[in-house]
Amino acid sequence: MNERLALLSDRWQDRVSTAVDWLEDRGFRGKAGLILGSGLGNFVDSVDDAQFVDYGSIPGYSATSVAEHTGRLVCGTASGVPVVVMQGRLHPYEGLPAEELLLPTAVLACLGIETALVTNAAGGLNRYYTPGDLMVIRDQLDFHFSDPLRGLLAEPFAPIPDYGADLLPSKADLAALAKIGRSGGAIHLFEPKLAKLLVEAAAETGVPMHSGTYVSMYGPPYEAKAEIGMLRRIGGDAVGMSTAPETILLKRLGVEPVGLSCITNPARETGQPELSHQDVVEVGIMVRKRMARLLLAYLPKIDK
Ligand code: HPA
Repeated sequence: MNERLALLSDRWQDRVSTAVDWLEDRGFRGKAGLILGSGLGNFVDSVDDAQFVDYGSIPGYSATSVAEHTGRLVCGTASGVPVVVMQGRLHPYEGLPAEELLLPTAVLACLGIETALVTNAAGGLNRYYTPGDLMVIRDQLDFHFSDPLRGLLAEPFAPIPDYGADLLPSKADLAALAKIGRSGGAIHLFEPKLAKLLVEAAAETGVPMHSGTYVSMYGPPYEAKAEIGMLRRIGGDAVGMSTAPETILLKRLGVEPVGLSCITNPARETGQPELSHQDVVEVGIMVRKRMARLLLAYLPKIDK
């Protein structure tokens, strides 16, 4: 069996493997995965020999109506590198259980990819960032405050305690809990060598690039002024509502995540600005062109 599938709990494995088999029969395999965030989906125009499938037509995805309306999976090559692209993603604020939220990411991981570029639209907490800037994610602050992988892996870091009649965890659970922190924790969630390749590609293509810490909030409302102040003080550079659960899963399945935020607006302690439609369109056009240039220069670097 696909060795990544073997890492999933029985409860998840069947659904993920049904989708993976179906996609592999249609030639969906890749070396790099890409998850395209809000407004960034047009990168699929740069994919050669592209094949598209709607999420809703993939067996196993269609359990939730949200998934059916969220996007497509695309397979092809970009700069000669075989890629599988998620054009559209689910968000924690849609209220789905992790099993639904992360299913497309688990499937992506099982299609043979070595690394995944996870992109998002984000507000700029860092005062030097302006709309249209890109930021490679050096690390993340996960404000979801729960283990997104609970119940989804064959061997989770944290056991799900089996509370017996005395309402205490078993000795075996306590022993497993005691091991947490001593084994398996990711030192670098985002492998610095891969992040540097993205910075190199930015330098070569003349795309300005920051590097910083991404904060993942639950949303869907934008942050309150006091929250923005707090997120700045604890070291956040960009804030959005995705990415953290996906990167945690990818890393656990042995896929190296690389994160890229596209700053769409400044996050202000004086209140979020009202963006005009024109502002949004202009930022979108500028960023799309930059992103395509950047990613087409980046992908061959991971292929070496
Ligand atoms: N906050 C959270 N998510 C976002 C923002 C923001 O300011 N901009 C784009 N996604």
